[in-house]
Amino acid sequence: MRAENDMRDLHAPGGHVPVMLERVLELLAPALAGPTPVVVDANLGLGGHAEALLAAHPSLHLIGIDRDPTAIERSTARLAPYAERTTLVRAVSDELTEVLAEAGRPRVDAVLFDLGVSSPQLDEAERGFAYSYDAPLDMRMDRDQELTAEVVVNTYSAAELIRILRDYGEERFAPRVARLIIKERGNEAITSTKRLAEIVRTAIPAATRRTGGNPAKRTFQALRIEVNAELTALERALPAALDALTLGGRVVVLAYHSLEDRLTKQVLAARTRETGPPGLPVPLPAHQPRFALLTRGAELPSEEEVARNPRAASARCRAAERIREAVDKE
Ligand SMILES: C[S@@+](CC[C@H](N)C(=O)[O-])C[C@H]1O[C@@H](n2cnc3c(N)ncnc32)[C@H](O)[C@@H]1O
Repeated sequence: MRAENDMRDLHAPGGHVPVMLERVLELLAPALAGPTPVVVDANLGLGGHAEALLAAHPSLHLIGIDRDPTAIERSTARLAPYAERTTLVRAVSDELTEVLAEAGRPRVDAVLFDLGVSSPQLDEAERGFAYSYDAPLDMRMDRDQELTAEVVVNTYSAAELIRILRDYGEERFAPRVARLIIKERGNEAITSTKRLAEIVRTAIPAATRRTGGNPAKRTFQALRIEVNAELTALERALPAALDALTLGGRVVVLAYHSLEDRLTKQVLAARTRETGPPGLPVPLPAHQPRFALLTRGAELPSEEEVARNPRAASARCRAAERIREAVDKE
């Protein structure tokens, strides 16, 4: 395993540091100990985790997926020294089963999800993810898709906006924010991050504005999740990843907000519990869980890591291992 200082030097472009890297490597290592292991990095991003995995396991083949063509371009350059051991695919992670079939590797030894947005997506102002810069309201991870944050803000009904703000942003003042958006867009279309951030600020009661961080944070998170259908993608991709795991195969998920983490917890809980009727003296093989949890609750990054990389602060890590084949494979 690399020393802590070496990890900071993983060619970190733009100072990018992969989140909970040491723990991710440690959790995945037992699944990658065979002679020809295969790992899927379902959120390739800048290829930070991918590079460390390829460096740590000399016979590892890595299938990297990202929906953002810029991420594929950058990680192709970064992972060039490992080109023979990598298959990088521009796809949405819920296409995992098709990507694996196409790569001729329907079963894999490990899958890593490092969810959410990447540092460049947040830092490049024109992508419109950040309320701290003035930019067009965009927020698409894949800029070929049609739905943008501008379309959501200017065309969704009040009821739809309230649902998104409440469910995806956990915004207690969702109806107030939605009402003001609808009023303001009646005067003039809302096309910039700055104007939207100002509208949200005005909609939030002054007493609440003074507490917590930027009041626009929750609305921007909600719009981002809606524009990129983030939870829907995870809802499909995580079960597909579990299905693809070989015996002893492992999945690690790094989530960055409570909705992602809750969904991860629910999917893993459903696969790690017995499914038979209660009270059977000996559980039937068909009812025994196929997976076991490797983490107790969600693991958090260390204080030291958060001090070094504030973007790691909200990370929640959960992992599971396949302990039995599916019934039809027995
Ligand atoms: C936090 S970054 C990953 C960083 C990466 N682990 C590294 O070390 O550089 C998340 C990446 O996942 C991508 N992404 C998010 N949701 C996706 C999805 N449903 N399918 C494919 N890629 C997705 C984003 O475009 C972004 O590049």
